[in-house]
Amino acid sequence: MQSQTYNYKVVRQFAIMTVVWGIVGMLVGVIAAAQLVWPELNVAEWLHFGRLRPLHTNAVIFAFGGCALFATSYYCVQRTCHTPLFAPGLAAFTFWGWQLVILLAAITLPLGYTSGKEYAELEWPIDILITLVWVSYALVFFGTVATRKTTHIYVANWFYGAFILTVALLHLVNSAEVPVSLTKSYSAYAGVQDAMIQWWYGHNAVGFFLTAGFLGMMYYFVPKQAGRPVYSYRLSVVHFWALIFTYMWAGPHHLHYTALPDWTQSIGMVFSLILLAPSWGGMINGIMTLSGAWHKLRTDPILKFLITSLSFYGMSTFEGPMMSIKTVNALSHYTDWTVGHVHSGALGWVAMVSIGAMYYLIPRMYGKTEMYSTKLITTHFWIATIGIVLYIASMWISGVMQGLMWRATNPDGTLTYSFVESVKASYPFWTIRVVGGLLFLLGMVIMFYNMVKTIAGQKAYDAPVLAPAGAHA
Ligand code: HEM
Ligand code: HEM
Repeated sequence: MQSQTYNYKVVRQFAIMTVVWGIVGMLVGVIAAAQLVWPELNVAEWLHFGRLRPLHTNAVIFAFGGCALFATSYYCVQRTCHTPLFAPGLAAFTFWGWQLVILLAAITLPLGYTSGKEYAELEWPIDILITLVWVSYALVFFGTVATRKTTHIYVANWFYGAFILTVALLHLVNSAEVPVSLTKSYSAYAGVQDAMIQWWYGHNAVGFFLTAGFLGMMYYFVPKQAGRPVYSYRLSVVHFWALIFTYMWAGPHHLHYTALPDWTQSIGMVFSLILLAPSWGGMINGIMTLSGAWHKLRTDPILKFLITSLSFYGMSTFEGPMMSIKTVNALSHYTDWTVGHVHSGALGWVAMVSIGAMYYLIPRMYGKTEMYSTKLITTHFWIATIGIVLYIASMWISGVMQGLMWRATNPDGTLTYSFVESVKASYPFWTIRVVGGLLFLLGMVIMFYNMVKTIAGQKAYDAPVLAPAGAHA
């Protein structure tokens, strides 16, 4: 009897590009961080901080994070549904289409073409390409779920599914724009409505692109690597519904003290505070999955990556609700505290969980169960962790310092410090950030070497499809 195999080709492609784009995106981050310390590094218009910053955010979120999400969701949905990917031609299109989007971003952003909306900077022709790729992604993913050979739909697929549907909605609504030329468009919305739609998009991009999808990853790879079932399956279902309902309303915390009506800001704050509960429910569920297998944490560096990522997830989802309180936000807004919060989520949670998942996936794409060197994974883990701590601790200190300096007044009511004095006082912390970023980048380069050594001389491998039985694979 001829046995059917899973479609690992597209998973392999996305997994390799995750590592490649991770290095590129973080290298741009390190350069941008260095430009803040040494302004003379702004050598050309297209290499200016203002151009490199959106290049960095697009590269790390959509190229690195996006490829990790495509790779793991395609792997997880096939394995847990006991069926190969639906529409393999479309799946191949999502790979090449997404790489084209990334390439176009890498060309247009340094040239200064931008719609001016944060995390949605790409101009309208690229927006259309994104839509085509995303609709194809949804067809492949939900087509695979619909043709599954299992009765149950494993919880990780719920998170991936919510991520795919919501990102489609966010992209379509926020990118509504009026083109005036091939490279320029204006938003369909104006004034405060434009701001509200942008941050409804922005916050849910965090909630669904940088969180729900990665929670799907967590729910598949943590139990697999720990060799234990999810701590509480019931909690995972409650976690899912509570999280997706709450996230939608929290966007206005990005617009505190603006022209947005005050009651809208308060709603954003209240929903952000509520968000702590489902976020921590998910974190606890992930960490407690290790019950009875804690000893593995001592020797298994992949588990170290996964469990540390959950700890950072817990930390950033505690910090976020605190920062959404108006009086706290009055201090933190516009300061490096926000940048520290972003990177405790982005490096600590998103990058660490992706790295752990890639170390699990990559050898399996070549018929092996382990990477070339486990020792190098351990080295990567420690270098990355020290890098994150340096990055976020320095940003917290400089952020709080900036906030305090900006609000300090003399007895006669004049400002104690000029703005430039706060910039000068920030230099030592920005320098520490460069060191932290360099360490994290070095870890990624080690990962690349380990990946090349794992793959070298190996044949691509597609595992046979499991018999139609239980849900977990
Ligand atoms: C080597 C690692 C990294 C370095 C050195 C780095 C550096 C930077 C720098 C210098 C900025 C600009 C900060 C400013 O405007 O003051 C920034 C912004 C940002 N980075 Fe990174 N980054 C790194 C990794 C990542 C990763 C992995 C992600 C996401 C998965 C990420 C997401 C972001 C986001 C969303 C912003 C915008 C923050 C905001 O608007 O408040 N970064 N990064
Ligand atoms: C319960 C969960 C969370 C809440 C309530 C929350 C809340 C907040 C608040 C209040 C701000 C500052 C807004 C401002 O002053 O401008 C912020 C900024 C940000 N957060 Fe979070 N956060 C949460 C989790 C996360 C996680 C897990 C990540 C990343 C994976 C993240 C990524 C970001 C980004 C990228 C920004 C900067 C946006 C910008 O101004 O460009 N957040 N968040």
